[in-house]
Amino acid sequence: MSKPPSSASAPAKLILCGEHAVVYGRPAIALPLAGVRANVQVDQGRPGSGITLRATNLHQEWKVDGASPDPLGELALATLHHLGIPPSDLVIMIDSAIPIAGGMGSGAAVATALVRALAAHIGCVLPAGEISALVYTCEQRYHGTPSGIDNTVIAHERPIWFERRMGSGQRRTVNHIEPVAIANPLTLVIGDTGVRSETRLPVGEVRQRWQADPTTYEALFDQVGSLVRQAREALAMGDHESLGPLLNENQRLLETMGVSSPELARLVQAARDAGASGAKLSGAGWGGVMLALADDDDITRRAIVGALKRAGAVQVLETQIESSVLV
Ligand code: PMV
Repeated sequence: MSKPPSSASAPAKLILCGEHAVVYGRPAIALPLAGVRANVQVDQGRPGSGITLRATNLHQEWKVDGASPDPLGELALATLHHLGIPPSDLVIMIDSAIPIAGGMGSGAAVATALVRALAAHIGCVLPAGEISALVYTCEQRYHGTPSGIDNTVIAHERPIWFERRMGSGQRRTVNHIEPVAIANPLTLVIGDTGVRSETRLPVGEVRQRWQADPTTYEALFDQVGSLVRQAREALAMGDHESLGPLLNENQRLLETMGVSSPELARLVQAARDAGASGAKLSGAGWGGVMLALADDDDITRRAIVGALKRAGAVQVLETQIESSVLV
């Protein structure tokens, strides 16, 4: 009897604050979006067919070339190796509701779901840390120098504080990850500019600017680090009145770094004008999504949604981040 297909999923993510500066060792806070997910199903393939990857919603199918695999194929091979099983005949089907290159961690979510589904195929559940490490190598193939925040928040699937620290000997970085306490549920409205921008491009721009003027950029990153610390306090106290202005300040600093765009700035302004207490781009920038902090009342939330649509958002999502207490 043939084995039934196995499936797994992984959430999208949002960076609440601290993107870009996180690449340079400052902290950032990231949130999983449980309701927006990538799904992967693994099925037995025809004998001798090797590994086939099929991206259902992109209408694409390709074979994993063992000699020079694409990043997802390489991840599939690395995961099978990690699980201690030889590459066999598999059909891996990907179906994701997360916009590609939109700042919501689409690549890391697909990769996480793929690792989980392959593990499920042999009846195994891998710990989040092992999944995150496998996905990080795939992120490196796509983005060059990722901080690791996307794979971490998606694999752990809970709000996190993320910081890269120099390890002993100053040779390699060690990720410092902590759960984040959220005293009151957080209502966020997400506006998608519809502009697709690859993460590595704005990341490369910031690197060039930092190399040209390290003093100014280190100071900017320090300011981001300081507001992220204040944001953590505000979340722990349920003090959303303080959180909004911190998000606005983060947007101002991201604009100074050159990673906003006219489309992002328009949506951010529209959300603020409609009553959001804070709004900023989220992710690498130059396109993708922005987030707005909505008060806990329906009228403001609906006003923000309407304003974002009128300002050109191609998609508007509403999400509630539940409170989480640290034990
Ligand atoms: O746009 P995303 O979802 O890939 O987020 C990138 C976040 C950055 O801080 C800009 C880069 C990184 O690797 O942390």
